[in-house]
Amino acid sequence: MAIREKHDAVFFKSRRERLAESIKKKYADASKGIILLLGAFESKNSFRQESSFYYFTGIQEPASALTIDLQPAKTLLYVPNFGNERQKWMSSTILPGQSERFGFDEIRPLGEQSAGYQCHPFFSKNEYAELIAHIQQAVAEKRAIFTLNPSTSAGYVEQRFILMRMMQMVPGLAERLVDISAEVAQLRRSKSQAEIECLYQAIDVTVDAHDAAARAISPGKKECEIQALIEYMFTVRGCSTAFPSIVATGKNATILHYHDNSASLANGELMVVDVGASYRYYNADLTRTYPVSGTFSKRQRELYMIVLETQEFIAQLAKPGFWVSNKDVPEKSLYHRALAFLKEKGYERYFTHGIGHYLGLDVHDVGSYTEPLKSGDVITIEPGIYIPEEKIGIRIEDNYWIVEDGAICLSEDLPKSPEDIELMMATKFDDEEDEIDDQLEADKSEEYETEDDVEN
Ligand code: GLY
Ligand code: MN
Repeated sequence: MAIREKHDAVFFKSRRERLAESIKKKYADASKGIILLLGAFESKNSFRQESSFYYFTGIQEPASALTIDLQPAKTLLYVPNFGNERQKWMSSTILPGQSERFGFDEIRPLGEQSAGYQCHPFFSKNEYAELIAHIQQAVAEKRAIFTLNPSTSAGYVEQRFILMRMMQMVPGLAERLVDISAEVAQLRRSKSQAEIECLYQAIDVTVDAHDAAARAISPGKKECEIQALIEYMFTVRGCSTAFPSIVATGKNATILHYHDNSASLANGELMVVDVGASYRYYNADLTRTYPVSGTFSKRQRELYMIVLETQEFIAQLAKPGFWVSNKDVPEKSLYHRALAFLKEKGYERYFTHGIGHYLGLDVHDVGSYTEPLKSGDVITIEPGIYIPEEKIGIRIEDNYWIVEDGAICLSEDLPKSPEDIELMMATKFDDEEDEIDDQLEADKSEEYETEDDVEN
């Protein structure tokens, strides 16, 4: 979904203003510089805008670029030049002349017309001539170019590739670049009311998909049948998958990112379902573990309760001042507290991943792990126990909004006690069409408001 309303443009503009302020605050002579943000490219015909580019623009046009001259302030969106070709192929085409609608001072072509209807990372200098001229001038004037260029092994890979390509075309560019990924992460980390509403919608859709899956699970079905039902539930409500769905039964459930989803469900086994809907770029990430038979065995229930108690223990600790993980302050580290809790029960060596992550426009969202949690963060809490020799994998994952004095569970509507899971599985999914229609009606009446966000 691209920008829909005029007030959406105001909302993205206010984020750009906050970015400019944060850069000016950090760099004394920032006002001479420019901000350069680079969007994602299409891969074949699939496209997802780079999350930070989306955060500051709302634009879903591939190969776009944004420049913000800090003083005098001027914001330009550059879009590829396809002449009239792209409209024949794609619906969401942004053209020069629409700048007011999208809240920019101007929308310009990147350069000369590209061949066909797509622009690719090995673009020619001509295709980028206008943007290159803008950057060349900034380099000649020895202005800083604030951009997403971290020195990590992953992160903003496509953007860094484009920068490298531009360095081949603009001598001296490398020396002008200033990485702003930390500032951007700080801004994206604190979620506004409007963002919480988008996350909540993604979570609500995911809760309903879990509910449908729980009621459809039965011996003899295939993992991919359950996956298909879940993804149908996402699609019919205007969402996509936030990440490849993990629908893993038996020993497969001990493989943390299993997504072959090809095995048959066997009576007596457990099934880990780790899935998330993505709504307006905001992602849910919810995991439940179901007994294929509909009833937990004694051993399964024993282990399940340990995971559930660990999650409940960590969720009541989580608040500003606690760290997701910090070995230097284990008392205040959610990961280390979970490990200690599991150690008391003798299972810490079966907990083989972290306790959680930030959640937002990316499933593993930006946000610093070298500082404690603060109000406005959204995180997952997802302990697990994996015992391959018993063919048992158990994970329980919910999504939490950190507020001043604790953590609010945004996914509390999804049952998780063994009794409630068994009850949910026992209620068959026979009135499917009516239930989905009800949900679609409810979605329509819950349009999210962005004006509030601008004030936040
Ligand atoms: N839901 C998958 C993960 O958090 O890695
Ligand atoms: Mn997760």
